[in-house]
Amino acid sequence: MRIDIITCLPRLLDSFFAHSILQRAQQGGYVEVIVHDLRDYTADKHRRVDDYAFGGAAGMVMQIEPIARCIRSLQAERTYDDVIYMTPDGERLNQRTTNTLSLRQNLIILCGHYKGVDERVRELFITKEISIGDYVLSGGELAACVLSDAIIRLLPGVLNDETSALTDSFQDNLLAPPVYTRPAEFEGHRVPDILLSGHEAKIDEWRHEQALERTRVRRPDLLDL
Ligand code: ADE
Repeated sequence: MRIDIITCLPRLLDSFFAHSILQRAQQGGYVEVIVHDLRDYTADKHRRVDDYAFGGAAGMVMQIEPIARCIRSLQAERTYDDVIYMTPDGERLNQRTTNTLSLRQNLIILCGHYKGVDERVRELFITKEISIGDYVLSGGELAACVLSDAIIRLLPGVLNDETSALTDSFQDNLLAPPVYTRPAEFEGHRVPDILLSGHEAKIDEWRHEQALERTRVRRPDLLDL
């Protein structure tokens, strides 16, 4: 898989992709993440990517020309399955969407800033608009990191234990059950006996019940899906 991220703050993304699972995923050849500085695509000598809103609203708007130039130069090289715009008014991200996107070959992710992008960018280039939650961030970069992380960890081979993404919260529309590690007792608080019993079938059953109960209490909406 290849993910091209378009941003006017490329340095913000560097450290995120340079550590842990995301770094290993790239080094292992499972994913290629390329960050593009939108300012490299301006014709303006001050490398501006934004301008005042027509009609006089507060806040700056990201201009269409540099974005169009950048997306078109990428599309001239390969076919993209989706051109995604990170925006608080997009479709709210969930595990179903990340599962679907993890099956794609090439994705472009555009990070918005200021008051967002000129509406014509959305009309002409964007195939999918994604929000990571009902709150407003200063820019789409963090949201692009969240989306990329959620996708990349699903790529076969990226996680050491291939099954571990399958037992994440939200797969099967259930939250994950509680987990424990050593010590078996901490200041009188014991790990549930069943987990120490060695009874695999019973442990699976216990985990499923716990997942159901946790979902019922914390996220009953998931059980209605
Ligand atoms: N940009 C700003 N806020 C955002 C959000 N909640 N989701 C996606 N992109 C954003």
